[in-house]
Amino acid sequence: MSAQPVDLASPLLPVQPVTSRPVAAPQVLSQTPVVRVDTAIVLRQLAALRRALPGVQLHYAVKANPARPVLRALARAGCRWDVASRGEIEAVLRAGGAAADMSYGNTVKRAADIAYAHEVGVRRFTFDSPGELAKLTEHAPGSLAMVRITTSGQGAGWALGGKFGCPPDVAADLLVQAIRSGHRVGVAFHVGSQQSDPLAWTEPVAAAARLREVARAHGADLAVVDLGGGLPAAMREPTASLAVYGAGIRQAVARFLGPDVPELMAEPGRAMVAEAGVLETEVLLVSERAGLRWVYLDAGVFTGLVETVGEGIRYRVEAVRDGAPLAGRTQPAVLAGPTCDSLDVLYVEHPYQLPTSLQPGDRLLFHSTGAYTATYSTVGFNGFAPLREVFT
Ligand SMILES: Cc1ncc(COP(=O)(O)O)c(C=O)c1O
Repeated sequence: MSAQPVDLASPLLPVQPVTSRPVAAPQVLSQTPVVRVDTAIVLRQLAALRRALPGVQLHYAVKANPARPVLRALARAGCRWDVASRGEIEAVLRAGGAAADMSYGNTVKRAADIAYAHEVGVRRFTFDSPGELAKLTEHAPGSLAMVRITTSGQGAGWALGGKFGCPPDVAADLLVQAIRSGHRVGVAFHVGSQQSDPLAWTEPVAAAARLREVARAHGADLAVVDLGGGLPAAMREPTASLAVYGAGIRQAVARFLGPDVPELMAEPGRAMVAEAGVLETEVLLVSERAGLRWVYLDAGVFTGLVETVGEGIRYRVEAVRDGAPLAGRTQPAVLAGPTCDSLDVLYVEHPYQLPTSLQPGDRLLFHSTGAYTATYSTVGFNGFAPLREVFT
C-alpha cells in the first residue's frame, strides 16, 4: 500500500493508525514544537513602549510576527506599521490597519510593489541607494523618502548594518537628490536587533542631526527621524528596562535634534511581540559527544529557531517534566535540533545549564520566542512540519 501524502504546508496532524481495532488513548501531551502567543502580552508591550517613548509614533515591524491575531490586536490599539513587502501591506489591511499608517521600510523593493503601495495610500518609504530613490520618484512621487544610514551594529545580538544603510556622505548626496526630486525627506536607521546598549541610538541620532543641516541648506528640513527597532526582549542575559532605553533615546534626541524636534517614529518588532511567545519543544535524545552532553530537540534552526545561528540571540530556556519545572542538579548541555543538517545546532559556544536528570520526553520552554520564529520556519525540511503557532 502506498503511503498517504503529507501536506507539509499545514500543521502536521496526528497520523491516523491504519487499523480498525480500538487503540489505547495516547497520553494527552501537547503536540510539539509549538509557539504559544498571548496577545494580551503584545498589548502590554505596546503600552510599555508608548510609556518609554512618549511622542514617538510606533510602527510595529510586521516581520517580527505577521500573524493575524497579533495584527488585529495592534490595529485595534491604534498602532502604526513598518512593512517590508506587498504581502505585509495586504496582511495589515486585512487586519484593519490603514495604509496611511504604514512605512515601507525595506530598502530593496520591487518597482511594482512600490506602485501598489502608493496606489493604496502608503506615503512613507525608506531607501539607501540611488537606484531605489529613482524607483520611489517614479512610482511614489512626492512621498516621504527616508534615507537609511548605516550603524555600527555594536551591542546588537542580531546586527543589520552589514546589509542595510549607507555612510553619511552618501546619505547627504541622496538626501539632496530626494529633495530635488520633489520628496519630503527623513532619516532612518536601525541600531541592530536585541541591542544591549541603551545609548546605541546616540551616534545615529547625531548623524541624523548633521543630515538635517544638509537638508536645511537645501531649503528643506527633515520631516521625520526614524529611530528603527532594536529594543530588546528578556533573554538569558538581562538587559535594561524599556524605560532605561527610552531615557537614553530621549536624551540623544533632546541633545542633537532639540528644541525643534522633527516627527519621530520607531519600528519595534522584537520588543513588541517576543515576550508574548513561548516555544515548547520535546527532548528527543540526550547523548554524549566528545565529552559534552548533547540534548537533541524536536525544534531547531529549521523549525523557527534560526536566530540561534551565531548564538547572538540566547533565549531563556526552562526544563519541564509533566508540566512542572524540572529541578535538581544541573550540568552544561549543547542544544541541537532534529534535522540531518549539521547547521542545526543551537548553542555550542554558549552551553546551557540544564538538569542532569533531563531525558527524552521532557520539554524545554524557550521564552521570548514570539518574534522571528514561526515565519522563519522552513516549510518541510527533512519532513518536519512548519512550526505551529497558537494564540490566546
Ligand atoms: C527596517 C526594520 N525595521 C524594524 C525592524 C525591527 O527590529 P527589532 O525587531 O529589532 O525591533 C527590523 C528588523 O529586522 C527592520 O529590518
